[in-house]
Amino acid sequence: AKLLDKRNDFSGRKVLVTAGPTREPLDPVRYVSNHSSGKMGWSLANALYQRGAEVTLVSGPVHLDPPYGITKISVETADQMYSTVTQLQANQDLIIMAAAVADFSPANPYSIKWKKTQDITVPEFQFTTNQDILAHLCQHRPSGQYIVGFAAETCDVSRNAQAKLKRKGADMIVANLVAGKNKGFTVDTNRVELFTPQGRLTESAGTKDQVAHDILDQVVQQCQDLWI
Ligand code: CTP
Ligand code: CA
Repeated sequence: AKLLDKRNDFSGRKVLVTAGPTREPLDPVRYVSNHSSGKMGWSLANALYQRGAEVTLVSGPVHLDPPYGITKISVETADQMYSTVTQLQANQDLIIMAAAVADFSPANPYSIKWKKTQDITVPEFQFTTNQDILAHLCQHRPSGQYIVGFAAETCDVSRNAQAKLKRKGADMIVANLVAGKNKGFTVDTNRVELFTPQGRLTESAGTKDQVAHDILDQVVQQCQDLWI
């Protein structure tokens, strides 16, 4: 019943959501990426739209139809996501970084396809560290803007997530265990724990749509004084 209740608690709010993986090219036909499906970001964007927000979704390559009523911008690399998101930051009331941004990119991708006949040895790649978009956003946060990050963890969820929250300076971290059955990447369900700098807020489990609404309920509460 909660999901059918079309509260307009995000009415007039501008919200930027990132979703999906990024792809870092090795050569024109190969890339490094991760298992992110984009589903959590899609659920957040849809839930925000239902609750009255003006939503911009910046997404890496995913196999999902563009959500109704939402401005969607497609990007491929972490670098493209960085420039797109930083350009859009100024006008947002809320930013939710649900994307699984690649941490490293091949430093010198080959400009033509690497051929197996090229050499007897396998190709070797040097990697460079990508910019941390979330940390950058938090450092350049305009007043009145609330920033939510995700933390994908395979162990020690609570400790790792809280360290991430602190290190990046986010207002809230949604921690999810991305190992094991029916959790995290690729599936339609999720189980998350929410943290603010004050500590653990709550947890939520269910479909990604349900979890998205639970996250937004907490964001609204946290923003009561910020968004008057
Ligand atoms: N993130 C980002 N830019 C990056 C890497 C991550 O904005 N280059 C964001 C993600 O969108 C997410 C949060 O930072 O909201 C945490 O991402 P995660 O991969 O869990 O943490 P990292 O800081 O990259 O640490 P690690 O992967 O080593 O656990
Ligand atoms: Ca990472």
